Amino acid sequence: MKVYEIPKIPTGLEGLRRTERPEPKPGPNEVLVRIRAAALNYRDHAIIVGSYRYNLDHDTIPCSDGAGDVVAVGPGVTRFKVGDRVIPTFFQIWIDGLPPKNRSALGAPLDGTLAEYISLHEDGWVAMPRSLSYEEAATLPCAGPTAWNALMLAGTRIKPGDTVLCLGTGGVSMFALQFARAAGACVIVTSSSDEKIVRARALGASDGVNYKTHPDWEKEVLALTDGRGVDCVIENGGIGTLQRSMRSVAWGGKVALIGVLSGREGSADPHDLMFKSASLHGIGVGHRASLEQLIQAIEVNGIKPVIGKSFPFDQAADAFHLQASGNFVGKIVITM
Ligand SMILES: NC(=O)c1ccc[n+]([C@@H]2O[C@H](COP(=O)([O-])OP(=O)(O)OC[C@H]3O[C@@H](n4cnc5c(N)ncnc54)[C@H](OP(=O)(O)O)[C@@H]3O)[C@@H](O)[C@H]2O)c1
Repeated sequence: MKVYEIPKIPTGLEGLRRTERPEPKPGPNEVLVRIRAAALNYRDHAIIVGSYRYNLDHDTIPCSDGAGDVVAVGPGVTRFKVGDRVIPTFFQIWIDGLPPKNRSALGAPLDGTLAEYISLHEDGWVAMPRSLSYEEAATLPCAGPTAWNALMLAGTRIKPGDTVLCLGTGGVSMFALQFARAAGACVIVTSSSDEKIVRARALGASDGVNYKTHPDWEKEVLALTDGRGVDCVIENGGIGTLQRSMRSVAWGGKVALIGVLSGREGSADPHDLMFKSASLHGIGVGHRASLEQLIQAIEVNGIKPVIGKSFPFDQAADAFHLQASGNFVGKIVITM
């Protein structure tokens, strides 16, 4: 079968190579899926350039996200049958509640979805939303639960009338925008680009702040909320944006610490949270139950994931280059 691999010792985007591997056979309780689309996350870029937080232990098929058709099932499978459309869970396997110690993620350390076929335990798949195409559904496994957990499961659940601040216009942010709007909340985005802010407004954001032209963007956020601040920050920037995020949050609000887009060096003073009784929540993607919850929200509300651009399998390298450039809104997809 056709696959892409990245070397055990990453060498950068040039290291992505197209190769062949034997087609997997489903073992006991495994489901073999013909992948129809895969999707990229910032993490996939970090893995390929060697800046991810742990090393690969083998030449690895990248990407955690995908969608496809069940083409065979191993002995003992009860959850799926041949012909079902499915997407994988990011962690293999974390079903609900607290994370098990031995959970592993697709794309690193496990082989991922940028392959014609993939065989995983039946508990590591969920049914694809009926309302979505393969390309749209492929975007869900990583960024979807991350945004859902930040809004709905971490601390106080977002409610109608709340205001959510999304940092940037990438995959996690655009899911958070759509889920927050469906929950009746207002959304403010920050972005490096006025054009991207126009796009975010078209998707339902009420306001946008360009953090390049307004480096003190938290002051703009406070002005936009009459000095009150926001109820939830989708904190994709990390340590370089955290202080401003903590200043942006309202009394009793929450900062969902998700990303590292601004780098890993620096420091922040948590006292901005203390007198506002605000909270900081680490987010680690999420369990299968959170993916199933957000799929229900997608189907009930008619949400369509935002696809910045789609590439054919042969042009996967171009997809990774676009991811690295930041010149997109939402998700980047590779079709097969
Ligand atoms: N903790 C978890 O469970 C989890 C799960 C998923 C992702 N993540 C992390 O969350 C972050 C976002 O992931 P993603 O896949 O959504 O990324 P992505 O789709 O690649 O989003 C990139 C976008 O973020 C914005 N951005 C870049 N640098 C920024 C900065 N310094 N401050 C604010 N915004 C910035 C840019 O949009 P603009 O040009 O509009 O600013 C850029 O286009 C990454 O750090 C990723 O590793 C964590």
